[in-house]
Amino acid sequence: MRPRFLSSVSKAAPSVIITGGGAAGLTAAYFAALQGSQVTVLERTREPGKKVLISGGARCNVLPMEVDVQRDFVTESSPSALRAIFASWSLEDCKRWLEDDIGLALATEEENMKYFPASNSSREVRDRLVGACTNLGVRIQCKASVEALSSLPGGGWRCSLGDGSHCEADSIVVATGGLSFPKMGTDGTGHRIVGGLGHSIKPVYPALTPLKGRHPAGSQLAGLSLYGVDLHCAAAAAAAKGKKKGQQAQRSAFLFTHRGYSGPSVLDLSHSVTMALERGTPLPRLKANWLGDSRAEWEARMVACPGSSSVPSLLRKHGLPQRLAEAICAEAGVSDRRMAELRKTERVALLEKLTEYPLEYDGHEGYAKAEVTGGGVPLSEVDCRTMESRVLPRVHLCGEILDVFGRIGGFNFYWAWLTGRLAGMHAAQSVE
Ligand SMILES: Cc1cc2nc3c(=O)[nH]c(=O)nc-3n(C[C@H](O)[C@H](O)[C@H](O)COP(=O)(O)OP(=O)(O)OC[C@H]3O[C@@H](n4cnc5c(N)ncnc54)[C@H](O)[C@@H]3O)c2cc1C
Ligand SMILES: *[C@@H]1O[C@H](CO)[C@@H](O)[C@H](O)[C@H]1NC(C)=O
Repeated sequence: MRPRFLSSVSKAAPSVIITGGGAAGLTAAYFAALQGSQVTVLERTREPGKKVLISGGARCNVLPMEVDVQRDFVTESSPSALRAIFASWSLEDCKRWLEDDIGLALATEEENMKYFPASNSSREVRDRLVGACTNLGVRIQCKASVEALSSLPGGGWRCSLGDGSHCEADSIVVATGGLSFPKMGTDGTGHRIVGGLGHSIKPVYPALTPLKGRHPAGSQLAGLSLYGVDLHCAAAAAAAKGKKKGQQAQRSAFLFTHRGYSGPSVLDLSHSVTMALERGTPLPRLKANWLGDSRAEWEARMVACPGSSSVPSLLRKHGLPQRLAEAICAEAGVSDRRMAELRKTERVALLEKLTEYPLEYDGHEGYAKAEVTGGGVPLSEVDCRTMESRVLPRVHLCGEILDVFGRIGGFNFYWAWLTGRLAGMHAAQSVE
């Protein structure tokens, strides 16, 4: 027996199959069903929205509080295509949809400019989304892995599932996500399917992933975190010439891990490292300003402090954690010195280690820990008004499978809601 969802009446809204029941797929399902389509979501894992559940430390940072498309998103596709997509649904309207239509009460985290569910429960986000879909009649079929798509004579598409069964619909939405966290069901099958049907795929790379590397002075600083680190990426800064000054610097939290570094400041720049490693292009230089204070501020502190104070104690006094202060002083060769004893060259070396520390790295944690995937289907191969493929008629794409990701802060879900809505709305529009 194989279900057949092709609509027989020409005026009826087309039937829609959504492959992938994540944030983007569920949003597409909601908007397609709202237009009157018969919608089926095919999700390969046991339940929809698994990534929503683990997101934001199980609190799910659903949206950012403000967006600057050029600053907050990364794509190798055209920036104007990206802007056109964002112009379709403002942050304010998207937030109102989550609150009014999905029924999710939101709370802000002002210091990080993020929205979370007021309940702090990612499960509530997932359950309300699924509930809104099923209220509109969406059928969610789990343990249904789409392995191939083929076009039917006379329009429409057939999905071949892993268990050998098939199902058919007038329109398809591909919302299979990226390659990150393969344990969650996302392994790039969608990329292979649409790639095999003629889409070009921008080479993928793990993004928002921790880096591996040696800690200052070779010491073990795992567990230590700082909250106002200003991390610069030299290559990114050069590539982004012409952008507003200072945009490449992220002043945010930094964490020493057992194998290297993490925290938003590191994750937000990690793609410049993974991309370069993956493609064999020159590696960017990462420079950390541990407290975000300027060189001039540190110079003034050095002048003002009593000459008898020890160098590590001066660093601690101004907020550097003890273990890091010791490591930096050891590297600068000034551990057992008093401020008054420092030679000019030693002072300069110390200032550099405080404000432009060259962060060593030799790898990254890959897809296993990457929050998202960079690269994917280029925006030039979709119609930015509808998310319909320019290669495969009546196939719409949305979410992480596209060549776009955002930095930490709710930007990736914004992308999923935004493109899911466009894809679902337009997949449900009847063809002439
Ligand atoms: C640990 C972690 C924390 C995160 N926290 C946040 C956060 O707080 N805020 C934020 O904005 N972003 C966060 N992200 C990123 C965010 O989760 C993703 O950007 C978002 O989930 C992408 O949505 P999507 O629907 O495109 O893909 P996904 O959510 O990955 O959904 C794709 C779905 O498709 C299914 N699928 C794949 N292939 C097939 C197939 N062949 N057949 C059938 N089904 C298939 C998968 O099982 C999956 O359910 C986080 C990511 C991770 C990993
Ligand atoms: C949600 O988490 C934030 C940050 O930890 C906290 O300030 C807030 O009180 C929590 N809200 C609820 C309802 O638990």
